[in-house]
Amino acid sequence: MSLTIAEPEKNIANKIADKEAVIGIIGLGYVGLPLAVEYAGKGFKTIGYDLDTRKVSALSDGISYIEDIDSSAIQNIRSSDMFRATSEFDSLTEADIIFICVPTPVTAHKDPDVSYIRSASQAIARTLRRGQLIILKSTTYPDTTEGVVLPILEEEAEIKELSVGKDYFLAFSPERVDPGNKTFTTATTPIVVGGVTAECTKVAKKALEQIIEQVHPVSSPRVAEMEKLLENIFRSVNIALANEMAQLCDRMGGISFWEVVEAAATKPFGFMPFTPGPGLGGHCIPIDPYYLSWLARRYDFETSFITLSAHTNESMPFYVVEGILRAIADQPVRLSEARILLLGAAFKKNVSDIRHSPTLKIIELLKNRGVSNISYTDPWVPSLSERQGTTLIEMESVDLTREVLELSDIVVILTDHDDVDYQLVADHARLIVDTRNAMANLNTDPEKLMLLGGGDF
Ligand SMILES: NC(=O)c1ccc[n+]([C@@H]2O[C@H](COP(=O)([O-])OP(=O)(O)OC[C@H]3O[C@@H](n4cnc5c(N)ncnc54)[C@H](O)[C@@H]3O)[C@@H](O)[C@H]2O)c1
Repeated sequence: MSLTIAEPEKNIANKIADKEAVIGIIGLGYVGLPLAVEYAGKGFKTIGYDLDTRKVSALSDGISYIEDIDSSAIQNIRSSDMFRATSEFDSLTEADIIFICVPTPVTAHKDPDVSYIRSASQAIARTLRRGQLIILKSTTYPDTTEGVVLPILEEEAEIKELSVGKDYFLAFSPERVDPGNKTFTTATTPIVVGGVTAECTKVAKKALEQIIEQVHPVSSPRVAEMEKLLENIFRSVNIALANEMAQLCDRMGGISFWEVVEAAATKPFGFMPFTPGPGLGGHCIPIDPYYLSWLARRYDFETSFITLSAHTNESMPFYVVEGILRAIADQPVRLSEARILLLGAAFKKNVSDIRHSPTLKIIELLKNRGVSNISYTDPWVPSLSERQGTTLIEMESVDLTREVLELSDIVVILTDHDDVDYQLVADHARLIVDTRNAMANLNTDPEKLMLLGGGDF
């Protein structure tokens, strides 16, 4: 029987409404795994596909590797037969809705690397069939959905005589998951979606509404792609402003930028507080500005404002290291013998994610400057095995004890995890370099505290 134009749309919409649509997720990381847990938890048969066989094995054993997801959640959706993880793409052929949640890094020259999106799209194209809905979730530059994913799918679709928006559907819906955020969950964080056609938007919205309370449709994937970059670049620019003003306060002396921000935040409208720090980390904020500036160059447009914010934020580890070296110079210890304890390896508080963490850059810079006696403590990151530039970082986290503190010439606070005894640090560290204002409201001898942006850094 030949299908009428409306049928695939009606079919997928009915399948979603009846919870008969099979969900496929490509990439089971910070974005893909929570999505899989949500759909499977809502009674949709969900298949997660990842090239990383260690992740697939962990999930098959009911073990979560993402802190916001309890292993019990994985065990529940596995025992109800709603979820399975695989490293065989062919298992995804039965999926009606496929989410692409793969990484979008930058190249060595800081150009976008959409090769993961390309290879995921190629895999989908091979088994593309009538009625399928594909939703790209990876953060990327405007036109990726229509300029990269669609042409790959179209090549196969033409052979199979499938037309987008009629026979199969394609949309972009950026992810807003905020690892470690206890207030906003996947369900309660509104999300944006833009389809290649109006029908694509309609079907994708319906699919997303199964797990998210508020779905905001926009007129195209390009609008959705651009709004995601706006969200992340907004953060990058405002953090850069805080970092620049913090450095000015240090130069001037006598003004703590932390007190300034706290005061400004009493304004109930027109101001959002952003704080300085040792540098940006994670997979999004350090990278996304480069996606937009690369795209802008193709239009002979220089995003000088955005690029400047990236440069300011990237200079922060250098600024912190200069502060540490000045602090060592004031101590009766030679640089090569100074014992430095870094508190925090994760890029932000209460997570274990070390991707692009400023701590790694700071270790590299300190080693390059001849500091060899470096240790770190982080309750979330038991060990480090990373290459940073040409520096190989192989370290185990030490326990934060009175003895460790007393033996260190300087303690540098780089991540303000909640689960840390900062009073112990205040009581027993000889000198504290605080880049997060973690020592605020503690009884610390001001003589032994150097606060980034505190007017004495
Ligand atoms: N982490 C966040 O908080 C966050 C928030 C919003 C958006 N994003 C965006 O979402 C995307 C994914 O980020 P993430 O943090 O989940 O990354 P991640 O590295 O945690 O997970 C990506 C997963 O994809 C797998 N993978 C890569 N190529 C694959 C392929 N061809 N087939 C199957 N699996 C493949 C990897 O093995 C990995 O497990 C990125 O574009 C990122 O910018 C991330």
